[in-house]
Amino acid sequence: MKSLIAANWKMNMDIKSSISFINNFKKYIKKIKNKEIVICPSFTLLNKINESTKNTKIKLGAQNMHFEEEGTFTGEISALMLKDVGCEYVILGHSERRQYFNETDDMVNKKIKTAFKNNLKPILCIGETLEQRNNNKTLKIIKNQLINCLKNIDENEIKNIVIAYEPIWAIGTGKNATPQQAEEVHKFIRELLSHIYNNKISSNVRIIYGGSIKESNIKDLMAMKNINGALVGGASLNPKSFACICGFNNST
Ligand code: PGA
Repeated sequence: MKSLIAANWKMNMDIKSSISFINNFKKYIKKIKNKEIVICPSFTLLNKINESTKNTKIKLGAQNMHFEEEGTFTGEISALMLKDVGCEYVILGHSERRQYFNETDDMVNKKIKTAFKNNLKPILCIGETLEQRNNNKTLKIIKNQLINCLKNIDENEIKNIVIAYEPIWAIGTGKNATPQQAEEVHKFIRELLSHIYNNKISSNVRIIYGGSIKESNIKDLMAMKNINGALVGGASLNPKSFACICGFNNST
């Protein structure tokens, strides 16, 4: 299956710096093959980046959206708006949203349903805290998050989901999960998907890893059987670094 490498720019970049990023990035990724590359900038940059990535292999994603399609929700963004501006993907349930904006599995579940209804592909983020890992609760937490977030989601739709395993202790800390630690959880997620849906679906869903991905650790992580791509924060803000990450097994 084609690896998916997504950039999560978080609350960084402005119009000028993002256009300069895209212009450089386009040059660096010329030789990259067999990757799906997605950039998820802030809402204010979506339109410009959509224009500057037309006819390239770069796809567009958003970092969040509301579960309602329209209405009196001051300050929110809808799935229809994201589609309108050219998004194909949307990150949902990122741990920073859960931690700082009180997003729950129930809200994430509603968002996933709305995303599918509007032909947006969700990148669902799940992951444990350091305390939960140290108390051997990782797999239990992952199981609960996955079951709650995927409640009543049809098997015709689920094939388009991307699941991002992002251990919270690895995000922005410079301390990535080892390939073995990540693979254990990815394998567990795949088995769970096969249990909830079936083998065919589970083997086709991309399960990507996020948390302190950099040029120096991408190759070993991607060598694991059940790791099908990466969600990259800090290292995605530099076009050369992000291009190297995207081309981890190509010569760039
Ligand atoms: P990081 O962030 O690569 O800076 O650790 C990853 C993420 O939060 O998606």
